[in-house]
Amino acid sequence: MTVQIELNNIDKHYGIFHALKGVSLAIEKGSFVALVGPSGCGKSTLLRSIAGLESITSGSLRIAGETMTGVPPRKRDVAMVFQSYALYPHMTVEENLTYSLRLHGVRKPEAKARAAEVAATTGLSALLHRYPRELSGGQRQRVAMGRAIIRNPKAFLFDEPLSNLDAALRVHMRKEIRALHDRLGATSVYVTHDQVEAMTMADHVVVMRDGCIEQQGAPLELYDRPVSRFVAGFIGSPAMNFIDAVVAEDGRTAVLQNTDGGTVPLPSRLEPGRSIVVGLRPEHLRVVEHQGTFQITVGAIESTGSTTFISSADDLITLVQADRTSIAAGDRVSLAIPEIHVHVFDPETGLRL
Ligand SMILES: Nc1ncnc2c1ncn2[C@@H]1O[C@H](COP(=O)(O)OP(=O)(O)OP(=O)(O)O)[C@@H](O)[C@H]1O
Ligand SMILES: [Mg+2]
Repeated sequence: MTVQIELNNIDKHYGIFHALKGVSLAIEKGSFVALVGPSGCGKSTLLRSIAGLESITSGSLRIAGETMTGVPPRKRDVAMVFQSYALYPHMTVEENLTYSLRLHGVRKPEAKARAAEVAATTGLSALLHRYPRELSGGQRQRVAMGRAIIRNPKAFLFDEPLSNLDAALRVHMRKEIRALHDRLGATSVYVTHDQVEAMTMADHVVVMRDGCIEQQGAPLELYDRPVSRFVAGFIGSPAMNFIDAVVAEDGRTAVLQNTDGGTVPLPSRLEPGRSIVVGLRPEHLRVVEHQGTFQITVGAIESTGSTTFISSADDLITLVQADRTSIAAGDRVSLAIPEIHVHVFDPETGLRL
């Protein structure tokens, strides 16, 4: 495997504000990497640093093996795709596509031929003579993609490119972008605050928090073994339930301290009496007919037709089931969860135990 983008111990200060704190990351050639995290954690700053739109305070950045210190954005040979598309309104689709080639001295006939190729790849062939205002949101997004592709860059950098689109189109464009990435054999770095987008599109997900990388790995690795309560709460939808608990005498059971009490089994032995936080994913909790290990009073039931969401009256527990239910608000129900699905965190540090 070849590393296409290599970040080594990168720091970025905006005046006294420390936006990136010692970020190291190796992005493999041909991979699709998603950067996720809450607003303000430094995703755009990291992406813009790769593009050269921000100067890094310290650390080193290499693209395709070359050190980028002092290399201006236009010489880095990377293409950015933004949420706002940034199309030129007074230019046709074809002119938007060929603009950067013309700027780099490519002759008109060659630029037009290249635009035709890219238009075919992105499904824009019939729209080359339209202006951006005459296009739908999805079509504009494709022009923005096309404009990035046409230069055959060393990497694509996406900053929340789909957040202006409605839900259905967003799901469609996700697939389109990923398919395009595969077809081109591209290297892509994709910023999103939508963890579902990250999980479904990327080979490798990087979770950021306060200017640091909290965890990185394959999507399901992050889902199965989050290193901290922060990652556990961020990855997965609806979010994981967290309940304060104390380890029982046997060391293998957690006694729940809030909700309505009860216990859950622990995946490994812990010191009796120790305070912990247990994490239970909504999709792993089951309503059982027999005596479960803990009970809740049902608060709300929401059904989307395919899925039923049940939440406890104290709002501490949410669970999801695929089938419909006859359970109603006010009912007492018994719950169970297999021990392999119980996550345990330190209440102080938030780290996985
Ligand atoms: N030019 C700037 N000057 C000072 N602070 C800045 C500047 N640009 C960004 N910041 C700060 O750096 C932090 C990281 O910003 P960044 O734009 O990278 O966040 P983000 O993760 O992309 O968030 P969002 O999801 O809201 O886009 C924020 O706290 C922001 O206020
Ligand atoms: Mg941002």
